[in-house]
Amino acid sequence: MYTEKVLDHFSHPRNMGELQDANGVGMVGNAKCGDIMQMFLKIDDDGIIEDVGFKTFGCGAAIATSSMATEMIKGKPIDQVMKLTNQAVVKALEGLPAQKLHCSVLAEEAVKAALKDYYDKNGIAYDPALFPPSEHSEA
Ligand code: FES
Repeated sequence: MYTEKVLDHFSHPRNMGELQDANGVGMVGNAKCGDIMQMFLKIDDDGIIEDVGFKTFGCGAAIATSSMATEMIKGKPIDQVMKLTNQAVVKALEGLPAQKLHCSVLAEEAVKAALKDYYDKNGIAYDPALFPPSEHSEA
């Protein structure tokens, strides 16, 4: 049912835990399954994701997608991170069962919510249409 990559990231999550010096923090949840994901970003003065951490209270697929998403954005510039999609995370994990795709949506939304928080805290203008509508996705 799950690929080796999913099982690996579930069993050995990368970048798990809160970042004390994060300057962008996002929290999203899925109202249907009740899972919650928190993403912590430390963004440097050049707009590079210097460090990243996550806390996921949810299913194995949510943990695996969070972990993979953190690996995909660490060391990357913000504009590249903004383009992260849940499909890209699923592809990097070599697939997810259809009924678990919403878990990967949570990972994309958590990263974007953390970026939005960073923009808000630093008074950086952005297009609100690029971000999830609320902290609690129904996806
Ligand atoms: Fe909802 Fe995985 S079952 S995030």
